[in-house]
Amino acid sequence: MKNILITGGAGFIGSHVIRTFVNKYPDYNIYNLDKLTYAGNLGNLKDIEGSSNYTFLHGDITDETYIKNIFSEYQFNNVIHLAAESHVDRSIKDPLAFAKTNILGTMILLNEFKNLWEKNWENKRFYHVSTDEVYGALGETGLFTEETSYDPNSPYSASKASSDHFVRAYGETYNMPYVISNCSNNYGPNHFPEKLIPLFINNVIEEKPLPVYGDGKYTRDWLYVIDHANAIDTVFHKGINRETYNIGGFNEWKNIDLVLLLCKLMDTKLNRAQGTSEKLITYVKDRPGHDLRYAIDATKINKELGWAPSLVFEEGLSKTIDWFLNNREWLENVTSGEYKNYYKKQYS
Ligand code: NAD
Ligand code: DAU
Repeated sequence: MKNILITGGAGFIGSHVIRTFVNKYPDYNIYNLDKLTYAGNLGNLKDIEGSSNYTFLHGDITDETYIKNIFSEYQFNNVIHLAAESHVDRSIKDPLAFAKTNILGTMILLNEFKNLWEKNWENKRFYHVSTDEVYGALGETGLFTEETSYDPNSPYSASKASSDHFVRAYGETYNMPYVISNCSNNYGPNHFPEKLIPLFINNVIEEKPLPVYGDGKYTRDWLYVIDHANAIDTVFHKGINRETYNIGGFNEWKNIDLVLLLCKLMDTKLNRAQGTSEKLITYVKDRPGHDLRYAIDATKINKELGWAPSLVFEEGLSKTIDWFLNNREWLENVTSGEYKNYYKKQYS
C-alpha cells in the first residue's frame, strides 16, 4: 500500500491531481496537505471528500514541527509536492512570502522525507511539480528543453528555481530518489481568478475592463489542467529518478490573440452581440520584469513516457468558459473577501 502525500491539493492544479489519484488508484492512501491560503479551497474537492482512500490534513509546509509529526504518523513513502505561492504579480509585491513557502517549505518537506527514509530509499520518491518560468524568457524563436539553463526573472520563478535546486541537492547529497517536472501555463476549471484566463472570464461576465499588460504581445504556452494532472500521473509512475520532464501544450498564444478569442467565445455563450466583450480590453501598465515568451519542447515526455495533450486549445477554452458560467457560486465565493482588496491594489 502506498501512502502518498500530495501538498497543495486544495489549489487549482492540486485538486485535479488529487481527483485523478483518488479515483484511479483505490489501493493508494492519498493525503492532501494544504494550508488553505486564499488560493486553497476545499470546495474544489467536494466530489471526492468522502472517498475511503482520501484524507485531508490542514497544515503549513513551513511549520517544521507539524511536518515532522505527520511524517512520523503517516510514514508517507512518496511525496508529490505542489504547495506554493503561485502568482507572479503577488511575488512582485511580497517576495518574502514566496521565499518562505516555496523555498523553506520545500526544504522542510525534503528534510523530513530524508530523515524518514535515508536508510531505505527503495520504492520511495519525492516529486517536485515546478514551472517553465525557471528558464527565464525566450526571444521570438526557440523552445525550452530540459537542458536549458535556469535564468529566472521574477521573485516567484527565482523561488521555484531555488526549490528545484534543493530537490536536486538532496538527490546528490543524500541519494534521495526524486523527479522534477517543469510545466507551462495551465488553464481550466477551478482556476483562481487572479490569473489571465479566469480573471478575464470573470470580468467579461461582470462587464468590467480587461487589463492587458503592456502591448499584449507577450506569449505563453497553454495546457489544459487535466492534461497536466495526467502528465503528473505519468511522470510519477513512469518517470526515471533524477530526471526532469518538461510538460507543455505545443500551444503558443500571444496574450492579445488569446483575449480576442476568449471575447468572441464569451459573446456567443452570453448571447451578446459579437464585439461587445472586445470593447472591454484596456491596455494597462506593464508587469515589471515581464518575460516576453515561454514555449516548451515537450518531446521528451512524449517520446519516453508516451504522454501527449488531449485537447486542442479552442475546445479547452470553450469547456473552461462553460465551467465558469455553470459554477457562478464558486466564482462568487472566491471573489468575495480578500480578493476584492487584492483586485483594488493590483488594478486601480
Ligand atoms: P494555487 O495557487 O492555485 O494553489 C496552491 C495551493 O498551495 C493552495 O491550495 C494553497 O492553499 C496551498 N499552499 C500555499 N502555501 C502553503 C503552505 N505554506 N502550506 C501548505 N499549503 C500551502 O497554485 P497552482 O496554480 O495550482 O500551482 C500548483 C503548483 O504547480 C505550484 O507549485 C506552481 O508553482 C506549479 N505550477 C503552476 C502552473 C500554473 O500555470 N498554475 C504551471 C506550472 C507549475
Ligand atoms: O508558465 C507557468 C506559470 O504560469 C506558472 O508557474 C505560474 O504559477 C502561473 O501563474 C503562470 O504565470 P504567468 O505569469 O504566465 O500567468 P498569468 O496568468 O499571471 O499571466 C499570463 C500572461 O498574461 C502574462 O504575460 C501576463 C499577462 N496578464 C496577466 C494578468 C493577470 C495580463 O496581461 N493582465 C493580467 O491582468
